[in-house]
Amino acid sequence: MKFSDGFIQELKDRNDISDVISGYVGLKRKGRNMVGLCPFHSERTASFFIYPGNESFYCFGCGAGGDVITFIRLIENLDYIEAIKYLAQRVGMPLPELEKDDGSHQTKLLIYEINRELARFYHFCLNERQGKAAFEYLIKRGLKIRTIRHFGLGYSPADGFSAVNHLRRKGYNDEMLVTANVASISQKGRLYDRFRGRVMFPIMDLRGNVIAFGGRSMENSTPKYLNTSDTLVFKKSENIFALNFAKNKMKKNFILAEGYMDVIALHQAGFENAIATLGTALTDGQVRLMSRFTKEVIVSYDSDEAGRKASDRAIKLCRANGLLVKVLNIPKGKDPDEFMKSYGKEGRARFKNLVETSMSDMEYKFERIKSRYDLDKSEDKVKYLNECIKVLSELNNAIECEIYAGKLSDETGIERKSILLQVERVKKKRTKVIEGNKFKQIQKNIFGMLDKPDRENGVSLREIKAEEMFLSTLINNLDMLNNISYKVKPSLFMNDLNRRIYEAICKLNLEGRPIDVTTISAEGFTMKEAGYITKLICEYLPSSEVKKDMNDYIFVIKSEKEANTINSSPNIDKNEAKNYIEKLRNIKK
Ligand code: UTP
Ligand code: MN
Repeated sequence: MKFSDGFIQELKDRNDISDVISGYVGLKRKGRNMVGLCPFHSERTASFFIYPGNESFYCFGCGAGGDVITFIRLIENLDYIEAIKYLAQRVGMPLPELEKDDGSHQTKLLIYEINRELARFYHFCLNERQGKAAFEYLIKRGLKIRTIRHFGLGYSPADGFSAVNHLRRKGYNDEMLVTANVASISQKGRLYDRFRGRVMFPIMDLRGNVIAFGGRSMENSTPKYLNTSDTLVFKKSENIFALNFAKNKMKKNFILAEGYMDVIALHQAGFENAIATLGTALTDGQVRLMSRFTKEVIVSYDSDEAGRKASDRAIKLCRANGLLVKVLNIPKGKDPDEFMKSYGKEGRARFKNLVETSMSDMEYKFERIKSRYDLDKSEDKVKYLNECIKVLSELNNAIECEIYAGKLSDETGIERKSILLQVERVKKKRTKVIEGNKFKQIQKNIFGMLDKPDRENGVSLREIKAEEMFLSTLINNLDMLNNISYKVKPSLFMNDLNRRIYEAICKLNLEGRPIDVTTISAEGFTMKEAGYITKLICEYLPSSEVKKDMNDYIFVIKSEKEANTINSSPNIDKNEAKNYIEKLRNIKK
């Protein structure tokens, strides 16, 4: 954190928080604040607030919060310094000279460098004698040289030390090679290559940095694909293969396939909007990433049972994030690559046809239900309709619902009105159940508040609440700080996080620095804790009796501390305790 407060303040001033966030989230005004759907978790009702007055955001759903820098860190998946650079670039501010940072940023940069160097090396090897078999393998699979170059495909030599030696020669030390997960240490303590004798697929982030590799074996050895494990710059479950290419194509949708080879074959055939996850089930984070660039996803998974399950999951996640979903069905259980290849020159046109005739997610669901029934039988027809109605009742778009009810009506001869009526019934029934559960939850929370102390360290909720209110009031009335810091010692705080926040405030005050979300959070708090700090600051309701409120909070904090010290006193005399309990009994009587 070597930037001056002045620089950070100017950066925040120029990057107005509502302005920046509105580039990612649709915002509506609500009084002095703005509100929208949280980009950090799936939600249907908006609980994501922007507080321009405090230059902060906070989500009441998932607890994410902070300043504009935190927002960019979270949404662009950047570290602190990268986020600052990003925002500075956004408004054309020059960066001040940096002193040494904490190291993890440097490590990341080194991993990027190592990966880029290694990708070059693998690509070079593919065109060498040792890579001949690999090269021929790719050509045999139908790839053009142009495609191989575009994706930077390569070959990792089989000897087991070529990559290590190459990178050592380039000046990278052994420890870094292990950190970057391009090498491992043998039992004898020697370094060897992670990828040996494989066709190499570099994986890139949105800015074109090589962040990982997938390596395919050419024989039938296992694993078929070996991938880079998670490192400082790579999280398998958060990245998407070829998104760096697809995002620039401004196509109307993305085609979501299963594998590297599918994506590459599709791009070669002109479907440059094809992307894939990296061999893991689609995650919420990946869907949100996609939704930054498109409104529609065509799921193109295998049609076997595993593929269907994966499609169902993809539909659900995409819908939850406001994306339209279509499902492309490839006949005979082939993947896109095999499908196109099986038609030779015609493959491209055939696949285009599949794209154009792909079903909407609703149609796909109906089709799947239908496959289990024989619609010529009345009882099957009823079952079919009832299941479809259940699916419809989960839609929260009336127009869509009506359209699909119409389709079902055409198909079954049952009136659309009756179908819609039944949808409403199912909906009502479900709402009742949900509301019942919600009520129970609220009840539980209230009871918990009243009588349950925090069991782990014996702190009462009354105490914690008082600490929160104390901090919230204090940060919003900094003129009281000098007086208060004299009266209230950090050691009075029972909750560790609250104590640390209070200490940070006092420290900033002593140093004469500004006290806000940004400066407090930078005093060694995690991103999650920054969210909590933001909540403390933004949830404050101005009061006309600040002094009195504050004294009340201090009173509670002090008395709880006293009570707690007595209770947990280890030296309490056994006889004394006995007498005390006896006394209590008498009172009860
Ligand atoms: P597939 O087995 O469908 O392979 O795995 P593929 O992509 O069609 O590859 P080819 O055509 O046989 O060469 C789909 C994806 O799952 C991941 C990879 O990302 C692969 O592209 N995967 C598969 C692994 O990570 N490890 C494996 O061992 C297998
Ligand atoms: Mn395949």
